[in-house]
Amino acid sequence: MPPEHPTTLVRAPQQDTAAEATAVAHPNIALIKYWGKRDERLVLPRVDSLSMTLDVFPTTTRVRLARGAVQDTVVLDGHPAEDGAARRVTAFLDLVRERAGRVERAVVDSQNTVPTGAGLASSASGFAALAVAAAAAYGLSPDATALSRLARRGSGSACRSVFGGFAIWHAGSDSGTTAEADLSSHAEPVPTGDLDPALVIAVVDAGPKAVSSRAAMRRTVDTSPLYEPWAVSSERDLTEMRAALLAGDIEAVGEIAERNALGMHATMLAARPAVRYLAPATLTVLDRVLRLRQDGVAAYATMDAGPNVKVLCRRTDAEGVAEAVRDAVPDGSVLVAGPGPGARLLPGGGR
Ligand code: PMV
Repeated sequence: MPPEHPTTLVRAPQQDTAAEATAVAHPNIALIKYWGKRDERLVLPRVDSLSMTLDVFPTTTRVRLARGAVQDTVVLDGHPAEDGAARRVTAFLDLVRERAGRVERAVVDSQNTVPTGAGLASSASGFAALAVAAAAAYGLSPDATALSRLARRGSGSACRSVFGGFAIWHAGSDSGTTAEADLSSHAEPVPTGDLDPALVIAVVDAGPKAVSSRAAMRRTVDTSPLYEPWAVSSERDLTEMRAALLAGDIEAVGEIAERNALGMHATMLAARPAVRYLAPATLTVLDRVLRLRQDGVAAYATMDAGPNVKVLCRRTDAEGVAEAVRDAVPDGSVLVAGPGPGARLLPGGGR
């Protein structure tokens, strides 16, 4: 094990460990965004972020060790994964194998219920489920914090999907060694007050994004004159967000989330060349959200690396909000999500 990976994952007592494990994880939507890495290999972010794990769009992933196989087999939604996706999964499994001291290749079979690569956080649920299933299949017994660190290496936002409800991802500290930086960057649950939130998801376009979030982040950090000011104000947003969540103040939670997301998109628009994920229909939905607020409904929008809009509101207002945005969405695809559970093994899946 190289020095930058101290023993945070503990091997299970039995050496004849699980040959197969299945896990399920849900996507999360950030209310304070992760945008920009300070270390691409370790997936260490520039800023802290905070999200809500959803109760919709689960990913279910089975990892089966294939003794004697010379390479991993990756099946996504019933089809062999494309080269790029398969390489990403193998690189992730290599990390797990290194930690487990094992060499067997695996068959990974993953079923997404969310459109892949459309800024609907499929990589978050995907890598959280893969982390949980692969760790169990290779006989590791990580705690939730270690799982979160592991999932982070697959896709940054996946570290938050290890936890249910609201979770903060600590960017971590650079004051010590690389190993210490790695250890310090993981998610953990965030306490909230009396809050009954919903996210109304307006699917403007379910197609894959033109620019990957990885490439877009790099370009933004490298070229956008707005990036540093956003990163500074995002830390303030995070502090205020934690207080608003604790107070159960949905208006404050929504206001902070909306300004944080718009700020993130502003940093991208100022990148050279610009990264633009927002589509005309995105702006139409934003207009509807503004109108809802003018009518006294607490509704606030957030957008990720894609044109889709997630509207935060009270659960009791969710159907009305969904109705208000539906005709702004070309194919009328709107659904209501609530807070969902963290990633977990399916019963009997660990052995
Ligand atoms: O984890 P990635 O590489 O898919 O990045 C996701 C970044 C955003 O969704 C835009 C923001 C976030 O914090 O989830």
